[in-house]
Amino acid sequence: MKKILGIQIGHDSAAALIVDGRIVADAAEERFTRVKNDCSFPLNAIQFCLDHAGIESTDLDAIAIPSRYLHPEVPVFIDIPQGALPKEGRSLKSKIKQAVLSYSSLTAKEKTTLPAYQKPIAVAPGCKFVLVEHHKAHAGSAYYTSGLNDERVLVVTMDGIGDHTAVGIWQGEGNRLKHVKSWGGEASLGWFYSNCTEALGWRHGSDEWKTMGLAPYGTPRPGALDGFFPRFREGGLVQPHDYRGGGRWLDHSAYHYHFSDAYALQKIAGQLGREDFAAEAQRVFEVQANEIILPWLKRLGTRHLCAAGGAFLNVKANQNLWYTGELDTQWIYPNPGDAGLAAGAALCAYYENAPAARHERLPDAYLGPAFSNDEIRRILDERGLQYAYDESPSRSAAGYLSENRIIGWFQGRMESGPRALGNRSILMSPLKAEHKDLINRCVKYREAFRPFCPSILRERASDYLVQSRDERFMITSFAVPPEQRSKIPAVVHVDGTARPQLVWADTNPRYHELIKAFGELTGEHAVLNTSFNVKGEPIVCHPREAIRCFFDTGLDVLFLGNFRLVKPGVAKRAP
Ligand SMILES: [Fe+2]
Repeated sequence: MKKILGIQIGHDSAAALIVDGRIVADAAEERFTRVKNDCSFPLNAIQFCLDHAGIESTDLDAIAIPSRYLHPEVPVFIDIPQGALPKEGRSLKSKIKQAVLSYSSLTAKEKTTLPAYQKPIAVAPGCKFVLVEHHKAHAGSAYYTSGLNDERVLVVTMDGIGDHTAVGIWQGEGNRLKHVKSWGGEASLGWFYSNCTEALGWRHGSDEWKTMGLAPYGTPRPGALDGFFPRFREGGLVQPHDYRGGGRWLDHSAYHYHFSDAYALQKIAGQLGREDFAAEAQRVFEVQANEIILPWLKRLGTRHLCAAGGAFLNVKANQNLWYTGELDTQWIYPNPGDAGLAAGAALCAYYENAPAARHERLPDAYLGPAFSNDEIRRILDERGLQYAYDESPSRSAAGYLSENRIIGWFQGRMESGPRALGNRSILMSPLKAEHKDLINRCVKYREAFRPFCPSILRERASDYLVQSRDERFMITSFAVPPEQRSKIPAVVHVDGTARPQLVWADTNPRYHELIKAFGELTGEHAVLNTSFNVKGEPIVCHPREAIRCFFDTGLDVLFLGNFRLVKPGVAKRAP
């Protein structure tokens, strides 16, 4: 058995364990430290991966790091055997610069020795250290989880920047990933979209989905943002953009980029109005993304696309690409941001040394910690809480949802990636439009324009989605047929689209049963599913965080495994 640990250090630190080419554990550090986008060394996530597999760090065959450079914290936290340090892909000049900076900076000196209470991670003498370039790790996360072993595949990676690359073009074939083309920061569509997000008053590198949610309320204004983004045509960069005046800003314990463009864009947003500004940013992004991807599909002679990188969190651009009809497969890795790099680097390290191995399509994203009923009962008893054991939480929850109650649903293994997929979810009936406002007001405390998403019984997908496919990860949106929109209005956005999760009985039987039971009660086989957290906090990981969220918000009922907690005094809401 080959055991490879992937470690991402940076914005969205994370760890993942790959055993014989399959991801067995994957979690972001933020879920343990409760610091959103945490960029600290992922000690907690690493420990979780090892504990989950029942192994010690000395059992690892390799450690893969998604960077051309060895992060200075790696040799501090890991006891690396002599001679095992990987060769870095950077120039002598940058190495000397780094050494001078480390020497001259007191802070760097402080960071090079561990306090006595923090033991370094021990590894066996034969453990290999592998550096995997940032975009290659993104590409690996998408390709080696796609199950596309026998076809030629276009793999596209897009983000703000990583290892000096913003857009990467790769060819996957016969289990090999070949680099074809890449562009640097001058080609970054991610930075453009993030600058627009900052101009709207939100965080670069965290809040782009707010811009995307706002966009359908406005009308695009072609030309209004010219000069602020790079232009592609026929798969080539025809007009680079100089993102001068860039820097990083430490905000809530994570670094976020910031560029001077944001100030100029802020003025334009003031002139256009926020909605039209967001609509134009979205239009530009969609047009430019297609100008990159569609020609490369033709050049490589394929209709299969794998994609990763934070820019592919833009679900509307993903939808737009799907509806061009140019694709047979659109596989977007469900954890496409930098937290997914831990798994991507480890997958590359495995498959590059196992050319005959075949990869499988990732069946689900339930790769985080789980808590048994016994553990949950102990946690509830310690807090002196009143609860009931429920033989059939799915059926009970469906009943509460049909009475328009808001439910906290905590089951099984936590999801990896940014979406709650029915194991750390807040649920409500999608049948009434006002439920959006209710959850925003009582639970999420967030902006009213932001949409909620449905979990749909996979057998009923074609009832609710135009040209649906097997899409389990809420990573793309689809149009909802006009006659269906009024049936589930709380989960259809203002533009008539929804970002669904299709729920399969074989990967989440309890959640599938819940939606089926809700369908039997109401006639609609879909529920509103939003992440189990309050605004600005990471999704809950441990039952104590779910309990805290339950009592600190307007949730009515909480299911923790088979245990049910009902808030006293909550009346049944009107049908
Ligand atoms: Fe990235």
